[in-house]
Amino acid sequence: MKAGRARLGVNIDHVATVRNARGGVHPDPIRAAREALGAGADGITAHLREDRRHITDADIEALTALCAQAERPLNFEMAVTDEMLAIAVRHRPHAACLVPERREEVTTEGGLAVAGKEARIAPVVAALAAAGIRVSLFIEPSAAQVEAAAAVGAQVVEFHTGRYCHLAPDARAIELGRLAAASAQASTLGLEVHAGHGLDFDTAAEVLKIPEIDELNIGHFLIGEALFTGLAPAIVRMRGVMDAARP
Ligand code: PXP
Repeated sequence: MKAGRARLGVNIDHVATVRNARGGVHPDPIRAAREALGAGADGITAHLREDRRHITDADIEALTALCAQAERPLNFEMAVTDEMLAIAVRHRPHAACLVPERREEVTTEGGLAVAGKEARIAPVVAALAAAGIRVSLFIEPSAAQVEAAAAVGAQVVEFHTGRYCHLAPDARAIELGRLAAASAQASTLGLEVHAGHGLDFDTAAEVLKIPEIDELNIGHFLIGEALFTGLAPAIVRMRGVMDAARP
């Protein structure tokens, strides 16, 4: 069991969503990433979707340069496709997080089905690892998915916390138990444990009661909160919440 300081990865996709609504250059997701790092984010997370609805190829290029200069990790979220594999290998981000992707979805709606798809996923994990990229799989907190993630050679699992976050606060105990059990299992199998999706100040504090969780990746809530407080204060507050949850 370990429960040191947890890292915060800030997902800046939705700055690009707002920019793309007008097709111009404002607001700039690279500026947001720079501000996030300055405010205490440990790394930047960005999802290059197949349809490029928010982050673009040029954004990934600029984020790669920014993170290299700042000596902070870029976590590149990608679908399991040959196109994304080629882009990842070209940019060599610190980490790649494999996510499911459906064109018609509003956001990443569930975890990647690794169990049953090992033959498709294992070679992608191997190719990323051979390029020196740390590989994370975004999965549901289920024993079968954790086992499959270990079997295909991933180093990290990121648990999808969407189901947990969408429940009413007094209905969350069972789902938190699933996250805790899956985190313990993953850690026993030698996997690093991350969590993300739908987290806010309250749910981030709650999930960090699970000692195996080393990193949270948070986007939508922080970008929304930034409308009211500014991005840097929102991140400073989230860091404070995370540090308080892990005294
Ligand atoms: N982690 C992963 C793998 C994601 O795909 C996303 C975005 O869906 C997040 C974390 C961040 O989720 P949110 O924007 O809801 O905070």
